[in-house]
Formats: sequence, C-alpha cells, structure tokens
Amino acid sequence: MYKIQPNTLFTGKTLKYLPSCHSTNDFAAQMIQSGDNVFEGTVIITDNQTAGRGQRGNTWEASVGQNLTFSLILKPNFLKASDQFQLNVAVSMGVFDFLNELIDGGLSVKWSNDIYFEDQKMGGILIENTLQGYNIGYSIVGIGLNINQVEFQNIRATSLRNITRNPQQYDLSEMLKKLLEHIEKNYLKIKNNDYESLKISYLNNMYRFQEWHYFRKNGQQFLGQIIGIDETGKLAIETEGMVLYFDFKEVEFVV
Ligand code: BTN
Repeated sequence: MYKIQPNTLFTGKTLKYLPSCHSTNDFAAQMIQSGDNVFEGTVIITDNQTAGRGQRGNTWEASVGQNLTFSLILKPNFLKASDQFQLNVAVSMGVFDFLNELIDGGLSVKWSNDIYFEDQKMGGILIENTLQGYNIGYSIVGIGLNINQVEFQNIRATSLRNITRNPQQYDLSEMLKKLLEHIEKNYLKIKNNDYESLKISYLNNMYRFQEWHYFRKNGQQFLGQIIGIDETGKLAIETEGMVLYFDFKEVEFVV
C-alpha cells in the first residue's frame, strides 16, 4: 500500500495501487482508452509487475515489493510532438535531483533516460505519448527505480540501498512522494518554457559526456565523444573530426 500526500499541484494526488499487474504503463493506457476522465498527475503503482516493459523492446525486472514501479499520467498538451524530448529531460532530471539528495556523487543520466550510478543502472524510464494533432495528448511516464533490492542477476544493476549501504529499508511511500515532487517541479519548468536550464543540467550530468569511448552502430564499433544533443534529442557524437547525430535506436554504448 502507498499512502502519500505530496507537496504538489496535481502529481500523485490520485493514486491507484495494484498489488500485482502486468505493466503499469499498459494499465495506464487502458485507463486512458476507456474514455473515463483521467486526472493529470494520476499515478498507477504496483508491488509486483509481471511483464514490465523497457526501452528497445527490453523487459523490466524488479523483485516484489522492493522497488518503485509506477506510471504517471501527464497531459502535456502544451508540447509539440517534435519537442517530446523535453519531457524525457524533465523527468530524468527529476529522478536525478531526487537521488542526488540521497547519494553523494557518482550519479548520471545515460542518454536518453537511464539512471546510472557509476557504471551501473539503477533506474529506467519508459515514456509513451499519444498525439493530439501536432501536440502531445497524453503521456504515460513509466518509471522503475531500484530502491531496496540488494541482489541482482545483472552485475551492471544496482539500487539506492546498495549504494548508500543503508542498514534499514527505505520507506517506499516516502521515496515516491519526494520523487513525484521533483518530477512535477521540472515538468512545470517545461510548461513555463524554461527548458534551457534543464538541458544544461542534463548535459552537466550526462553519462560519459565529453569522454572518449567506444560506441556501436550497425554492429560496427567506433571511437567518439558525446558533445551534446540536438533540439529533437538526437545524440551528437564527435568522431574522426566530424559530428554524427543519432536517434535512440541507431547507436549503442559499448561497455
Ligand atoms: C528501461 O530502462 O528500458 C525503461 C524501464 C521502464 C520500466 C518501468 S516500470 C513501470 C513502467 N511499467 C512498465 O512496464 N515499464 C515502466
């Protein structure tokens, strides 16, 4: 169960708790499709997600009752579809700002919106938008954030508790409340057209920004350094004296 009274205008004011579900993003999509009036800021949260979805067709695994696994429904009608990356930046920096109050260094956002501690992933975000004309209608912001889980099959995964070595479990309701407050703060920034400051902190806290590393495109590795993102969110990588721009599915980080 989650009981929260977030200090927000609308985010998390309506909360639907599901002891178990396939995917909170899918549940949110069904709520929207059902035609009922869904309030902006509604959160669907579960303790046991049995078919969690990630980016690039991946799955999202989380042990039961240990982590935050939820979807937030937003209605960013003010955002043009071509500006949808602004929402990725606002949400990922919201998660980053929340964690930054609890973790002393080592945090970053891996383009486009994975939450990293050093070289390990601790959170993922799956944003699914529906369009209304040229603008976004609904946005389903799915967040999986590892909080109390201490054992992972994947050696490149970690959690808040593993990082801080907190002797006690974190209170998930308290974590959710604070996280939603940070996300709303950044969401209101893009609503008020203040995207630039968010983009600056996104770049300042980006995983492997301005460092030389190997990347992979179409199975071929190349050496490059990330130098920025363009206005649509494409990743700009300098390589062999030129700058190439990549869409999300076009390039991979080599670990
Ligand atoms: C990724 O890293 O690839 C994104 C993972 C997103 C997982 C969350 S958990 C809550 C929501 N429901 C889903 O099915 N996926 C997202």
